[in-house]
Amino acid sequence: MFFASDNWAGAHPAINERLSRESTRFAAAYGNSDLDKAVEKRFNEIFERDVSVYFVSTGTAANSLSLASIARIGGVAFSHSEAHVIEDECGAPDFFSGMRMVPVEGENGKIDPAKLAAGIAGFPQDSLHHGRAAAVTLTQATELGTVYTPDEIDALTAIARQNGLPVHMDGARFANALVALGVSPAEMTWKRGVDILSFGGTKNGCWCAEAIVFFNPDLAREFAFIRKRAAQLFSKTRFISAQFDAYLSDDLWLGMARHANTMADRLRAGIRSQNSARLAWDTTSNEVFAVLNKASAQAAEARGARFYGWPTPLNMSEPVKDDETLIRLVTSFATTEEDVDQFLTICKAD
Ligand SMILES: Cc1ncc(COP(=O)(O)O)c(C=O)c1O
Repeated sequence: MFFASDNWAGAHPAINERLSRESTRFAAAYGNSDLDKAVEKRFNEIFERDVSVYFVSTGTAANSLSLASIARIGGVAFSHSEAHVIEDECGAPDFFSGMRMVPVEGENGKIDPAKLAAGIAGFPQDSLHHGRAAAVTLTQATELGTVYTPDEIDALTAIARQNGLPVHMDGARFANALVALGVSPAEMTWKRGVDILSFGGTKNGCWCAEAIVFFNPDLAREFAFIRKRAAQLFSKTRFISAQFDAYLSDDLWLGMARHANTMADRLRAGIRSQNSARLAWDTTSNEVFAVLNKASAQAAEARGARFYGWPTPLNMSEPVKDDETLIRLVTSFATTEEDVDQFLTICKAD
């Protein structure tokens, strides 16, 4: 019953098999192999346009270097106040981009458009002392398990565009958001005005594979140097490419994300039907936030369930009582119905 994070899951057998196959041959290094080139082209098909793709090893590197590529001196980048870039990356985005991350509030992990506009207005382009607005970054799916609808993305990118700011999307759980919405990769990104995407594979069945996808080639002009200086150009890049080769073949990536979301749906339905637990807020991706009485949470942990306690957001419709606890449950391609049902049975019994 591993619900701590989709990072805890292993790698899908098809990805392991593709890696093993790649390991038996020689090929050009530093992203210059036939496989690297073929997988880069595959991203053009996935996104229905020519894109520039750069592989990196972690989501933090993908976000930080994406922001570095659009950095302006004295620039500030706006993100949701609970976004991974601002809360969980130890300042790496600030370090690599030289920009300051500025939090914007919004319910359910989503940036509020009016608050974004107000935030940008607070950093005019001639603001020498305060800093100047330079970028917007949004997370899809969000850290709170919610998913921006295409209209909600439009609303944010329109504000960014009015102010001449490029938009980055942290897609560490891109596939989970995509299948939750049932739209195409293009419809969730460049057709909505997103300029750069951190395309995550690691949380969804890869061993270690993240890609930075540029929809605007002008923004990628210097990027090869940015990545190299950040020590993220791998001599054996082809082993990231091999993972993406399997990931993007036969819709494996979408199948894995669909499975993870379905397991989360099962959790959501089971929790809704219980008296001793409730959903903290509604989510549609592979993350579920639940309020359990403390006895149930302890019983589940004692029986081997793994999950994280979560800080209580200010705007919860029903506050967490003293004898209750808020937890996050994350499902993955490797979660089974048995895991979910066992967890729900333990919660019900207590
Ligand atoms: C939304 C989001 N973005 C980025 C990351 C960073 O990924 P990594 O831990 O590989 O640096 C995470 C990891 O948990 C995440 O949840």
